Amino acid sequence: MDETDPLAALPVPPQPKGAAVLRALLGRRSVSPRRLLPPGPGPDELRLMAQAAARAPDHGGLRPWRFRLVEGAARAALGAACADALAADDPAAGPERLQREREKIAAGPCLVAVLVPLDPRRPDVPLPEQHASTGAAILGFLLAAEAMGYAGIMLSGERVRRPGLRAALGLPDHVQLAGFLTIGRPGRVAAKAPPAPPADLFEVVDDPTALSSILRP
Ligand SMILES: Cc1cc2nc3c(=O)[nH]c(=O)nc-3n(C[C@H](O)[C@H](O)[C@H](O)COP(=O)(O)O)c2cc1C
Repeated sequence: MDETDPLAALPVPPQPKGAAVLRALLGRRSVSPRRLLPPGPGPDELRLMAQAAARAPDHGGLRPWRFRLVEGAARAALGAACADALAADDPAAGPERLQREREKIAAGPCLVAVLVPLDPRRPDVPLPEQHASTGAAILGFLLAAEAMGYAGIMLSGERVRRPGLRAALGLPDHVQLAGFLTIGRPGRVAAKAPPAPPADLFEVVDDPTALSSILRP
């Protein structure tokens, strides 16, 4: 048995399709925008990524996420709006920092803004559950991108909460900007294998007298 292969320990070896899905999940890595190469995906490929994202587990079917490809002059305008919002928040930010802020939005072949239109009128689907669905959608988007030969990363930073940026985008109070997905070709240097997750992320709970100690995070 290959002890370095996590699938080797399974009691029933998965079929090739299942094994491929598991390996994609186990091996997914983010790639920083400055390492991503052109060409980025086109709108049809991005639409398929968004379709895959829409399979996120989603309480109430609210779909509390929107993907928006921001390109061309709109992308430059978004970078300028991020720099303006930073300058408004931090008057000490000098020209170099503002330029870096613009460059962050410009880096990488393709930029997709992730918006989160929350529905506060659904007590049956509290806001953390809506955010949880959006997180799952982001993973689906990234996995679909990898399956199509791309790589990418989800990044937010303080910029997504800056009032100046929210105002420039005209976001109503119930809509949050989760951040930006940058997608492109992964380049020739393969991303490092992901670190092994801590063992305590999964445990079996079978002692009914010790629930409070076993179920602590
Ligand atoms: C909503 C969201 C926002 C994120 N924002 C940042 C960020 O601003 N900066 C950062 O270094 N990582 C951020 N991350 C984490 C990265 O996307 C990535 O997961 C991390 O760099 C670890 O790399 P890995 O995905 O290959 O494990 C964010 C993730 C999510 C889901």
